[in-house]
Amino acid sequence: MMVISPSMLGADLLRLGEEIDLVERLGLTWLHLDNMDGHFVPNISYGPEFVAAMRRKTSLFLDVHLMLEYPRRYLKRYAEAGADMITVHAEAADEPADTLRAIAALGVKAGVALKPDTPPGAVEALLPLCDLVLVMTVEPGFGGQAMRADCIAKLPVLREMIRRTGRDIRLSVDGGINRRNARRVLEAGADVLVMGTGLFRADDPAGVVRDVRAAAEACACAR
Ligand code: DX5
Ligand code: ZN
Repeated sequence: MMVISPSMLGADLLRLGEEIDLVERLGLTWLHLDNMDGHFVPNISYGPEFVAAMRRKTSLFLDVHLMLEYPRRYLKRYAEAGADMITVHAEAADEPADTLRAIAALGVKAGVALKPDTPPGAVEALLPLCDLVLVMTVEPGFGGQAMRADCIAKLPVLREMIRRTGRDIRLSVDGGINRRNARRVLEAGADVLVMGTGLFRADDPAGVVRDVRAAAEACACAR
């Protein structure tokens, strides 16, 4: 079942409550929260308190993306803040397998993310510890970038790696996803589409959701 995970980085910071109401009205079930430390990526965004505020506002699934050099230091605070899933980068300074085990030990679903230049093989050994793989289709740090089409080739490779594990692991794409390229990433094997600008800055977010759901239907029929 395809999931759209709206990235709050693309939302209007002065109207976050209304933007979450919109997400709920659109019948979406996830919220993607991008946390950045200014070290792992050249930007600073939110922290655990932001996640806690989102938790107080909504029961949507909080899909927390940590772009932190040392995520292990903060896992407990994000878990206590109400994260439903914590995704950390394979490229972070903390050893990813230990970090993924630590996330699971907190009772939170665990995801691993890979930057555009990191090959799929870098995460294959981590898959038994994962509930989701996040394929960055932009260099992490900022919303509103154009999707890097060269990253799409990773999706079928990761889809096959996931199949071989026999585990139910979600395959997510993140960065520059919109109504025009959604079908392409779905056909390549993605089943979670993170959308910030492509959803929140669209003239008709409901039309975007309709188009993406139609693309997912068309892909499912094709399979
Ligand atoms: C970038 C973040 C993405 C980004 C997506 O580092 O991980 O989640 O906010 O935003 P758009 O869809 O605008 O590229
Ligand atoms: Zn993200």
